Amino acid sequence: MSENSFDVVIIGGGPGGYVAAIRAGQLGLKTAIIEKRGALGGTCLNVGCIPSKALLSASHAYEAASHEYAAFGVKIGKVEIDVAGMMSHKDKVVSDNTKGIEFLMKKNKVTYLIGAGEITGAGTVKVTGKDGEQVVTAKAIIIATGSDVTPLPGVEIDEEVIVSSTGALKLDKTPKSMVVIGGGVIGLELGTVWRRLGTKVTVVEFLDKILPTNDGEVSKTMQKILAKQGMDFKLGTKVTKAEKKGKGVTLTVEPAAGGTAEEIKADVVLVAIGRKPYTDGLGLENVGIEKDARGFIKVDHYFRTNVPGVFAIGDVIGGAMLAHKAEEEGVALAELLAGEHGHVNYDVIPGVVYTWPEVAAVGKTEEQLKAEGIAYNAGKFPFSANGRARSMNETEGFVKVLACAATDRVLGAHIVGPNAGDLLAEMVMAMEFGASAEDVARTCHSHPGLGEAVKEACLAANKRALHT
Ligand code: FAD
Ligand code: NAI
Repeated sequence: MSENSFDVVIIGGGPGGYVAAIRAGQLGLKTAIIEKRGALGGTCLNVGCIPSKALLSASHAYEAASHEYAAFGVKIGKVEIDVAGMMSHKDKVVSDNTKGIEFLMKKNKVTYLIGAGEITGAGTVKVTGKDGEQVVTAKAIIIATGSDVTPLPGVEIDEEVIVSSTGALKLDKTPKSMVVIGGGVIGLELGTVWRRLGTKVTVVEFLDKILPTNDGEVSKTMQKILAKQGMDFKLGTKVTKAEKKGKGVTLTVEPAAGGTAEEIKADVVLVAIGRKPYTDGLGLENVGIEKDARGFIKVDHYFRTNVPGVFAIGDVIGGAMLAHKAEEEGVALAELLAGEHGHVNYDVIPGVVYTWPEVAAVGKTEEQLKAEGIAYNAGKFPFSANGRARSMNETEGFVKVLACAATDRVLGAHIVGPNAGDLLAEMVMAMEFGASAEDVARTCHSHPGLGEAVKEACLAANKRALHT
């Protein structure tokens, strides 16, 4: 095989692409990964999951030191936030992580090509980097080019006063006020970061609830909790105009169904109404790769596009736009290409919102089960009745487990509470193994632990809760 010909060439170095590269390398496939950003890790490591969590952790520490330590008898002097210091923490976390991925490429003998990849023909990709062009060939091309911000007509993003998540991750000072357009995951996470630092945050959401894809009880509970923390909500509202005036922005909003318009002023506006597949400059038209009506690349169960030898994974094929879903697809596809039996169980993809308390969910919501006519038992346990949560002063929220009425098999789990994301892992595993709620309920959980709330919710689904 010549230097520029590979078994697998991956376009896009995000969680889908780089994990596919690692697995392909491990399985002995000669692999190259092309990334134009100048750093591996994609949206997730550079401008997504990781920097947002670094800011969430830093702002949580500030809020806890400012308002929560006193209740434990811990006295500290005046607490101050150094926004530049917080940003350096974030930048270091990002660069350590992205360098770590480069190391993993070397370790797994993956060739890293810096530049933009364009599919120019069957099995051929042109890579344009700062030092010119080169052509590579491959038996299999994997498109893992991810997603980009969905724009909102009339609200032009400048990443300074009207920002996307990328701009919201690097504001150099705490704005006095911020309007977040979209009450989904990004809006609530990044709104929370700045609210904790003192920004007056108003969330404008088109639908009549925040986190609209979550279980209804979870959405309502989180809205109450976030409102208590100081976030304002304008639900069932649409933004029709944004005008930059002086140093800030004036937004015109009106009821989603139409009605009287009003103006809201803000120092910064964050547009967070979803993400769209990113395929610019990829050359899909050169080989006739099909997309659906929303621009996602169409693939079959084996990640095959309509063009032989070209595959796609991650955000660019739609479904849950989550890093771990992209990673699972990367592993599955690399294994399929190596002649193994990779697959992804799309029924068991967890989702976590890293506000505090956190929101974590897997499987069906109550609304979905009702719509599908599936009889179920719901077991619920509040953190206010959990000894560990009480000792941590973290009593908000609950664990809710939904189990099939006929078989007791776990169909969904929804947690609002401290460390909800980590607590959910047990229920994800239970669902993957086809466990019943009773299986989890009869498993010994250490005491005192937050996990006991999960066990109690499973007991409650069997109508035998011990501590409520
Ligand atoms: P991406 O990560 O988008 O990577 C695609 C890469 O391809 C990019 O680096 C891009 O530069 C490159 N590329 C595109 N076109 C070309 C080309 N022609 N040539 C070369 N390179 C190209 N998900 C979670 O699971 N948990 C979270 O906590 C979380 N937080 C998030 C926070 C924010 C603010 C955002 C925006 C997203 C968050 N996500 C989170 C979503 C997560 O980032 C994505 O689901 C994930 O990154 C998708 O991975 P991917 O590999 O499909 O694509
Ligand atoms: P989202 O889909 O989570 O939320 C978008 C929200 O905007 C929805 O509530 C929607 O009803 C609302 N909306 C849509 N159009 C609107 C309009 N014109 N006006 C007002 N509201 C409008 O999308 P978001 O928050 O932008 O995140 C994008 C993706 O990134 C998501 O798919 C998410 O999975 C991923 N992500 C994941 C995170 C995590 O796992 N913790 C963190 C951040 C992002």
